Amino acid sequence: MKIGFIGLGNMATAIIEGILRKALLPAKNIHVESRTTEKVVDYSKKTGITPETNPVDLVKKVDVLIVAVKPNMFADVLQPLQEAIKANQPLIISIAAGLSLEHLAKMLPSESRIIRVMPNVNATIGESMTGISPNEQVNENDTQLVQQIFDAVGKTMLIEEKEFGIFAAIAGSSPAFTYLYIDSLARSALKAGMAKQKAVEIAAQAVLGSAKMVLESNEHPFALIDKVCSPGGTTIAGVSALEDEAFIATVMKGVEATIEWEKRMSLGK
Ligand SMILES: NC(=O)c1ccc[n+]([C@@H]2O[C@H](COP(=O)([O-])OP(=O)(O)OC[C@H]3O[C@@H](n4cnc5c(N)ncnc54)[C@H](OP(=O)(O)O)[C@@H]3O)[C@@H](O)[C@H]2O)c1
Repeated sequence: MKIGFIGLGNMATAIIEGILRKALLPAKNIHVESRTTEKVVDYSKKTGITPETNPVDLVKKVDVLIVAVKPNMFADVLQPLQEAIKANQPLIISIAAGLSLEHLAKMLPSESRIIRVMPNVNATIGESMTGISPNEQVNENDTQLVQQIFDAVGKTMLIEEKEFGIFAAIAGSSPAFTYLYIDSLARSALKAGMAKQKAVEIAAQAVLGSAKMVLESNEHPFALIDKVCSPGGTTIAGVSALEDEAFIATVMKGVEATIEWEKRMSLGK
């Protein structure tokens, strides 16, 4: 099997490195074309992937095509590939934020097998939470293959397309919210007299452990909160002060604003 990438930016690099790390494919079976050819050639020397200079040639050679350019570039990139896609019929994966399956279908030959995928920035360290949504033409094997590819950069979940905006907020944007939270913890420690760098490390590990606890204990987050808060203790004093400032409602507002903005920004809706 051969996988082709158009675009060699942050996300394509993260996915390719995941595939190579998990040895899903030999490097030479990964074909890459991007706007800056020298970049692809340099990358091929480093990793062993096959560099391509012409996207039409790439499409003719691959079984799976991952389009990894910015959403506003999709139409320009796909337009010259119509004939090659019609002839070779690769499975097409879009990782573009805000491009619906319906809109993607309009940019591709009819009956194209299209899967919409939303990884997040933590794919660069193999810890993405990736949402996957296939169109009606996609079969079970295609979906499994895509799950396998994105399992190489973290966890995957099949989601209905109507949930994509919600998924994008709590998995795509939430890393930024979480970095903000970690920085706020560390900044408070700085104010209280601890060096910032040390505090960031402590806060990040505490957040990592807490996330693992939620995933592995099977306990509801509120049950875990109750476990940490002893009667009249320090933690409940902190939790109560956060809630005085509407912590939960503030986080919910952030998520709602993200979902609303995604609706406004989404192309093809
Ligand atoms: N970054 C994230 O956290 C994230 C998360 C989820 C989804 N996404 C989605 O992933 C996609 C890529 O994002 P990114 O962050 O990886 O962006 P990026 O780092 O800016 O990469 C975009 C790549 O597209 C290439 N490109 C631009 N025009 C091209 C053309 N006409 N033909 C071929 N290649 C072209 C660029 O080329 P050169 O570098 O070669 O000049 C660049 O390598 C976007 O659609 C984005 O919505 C990103």
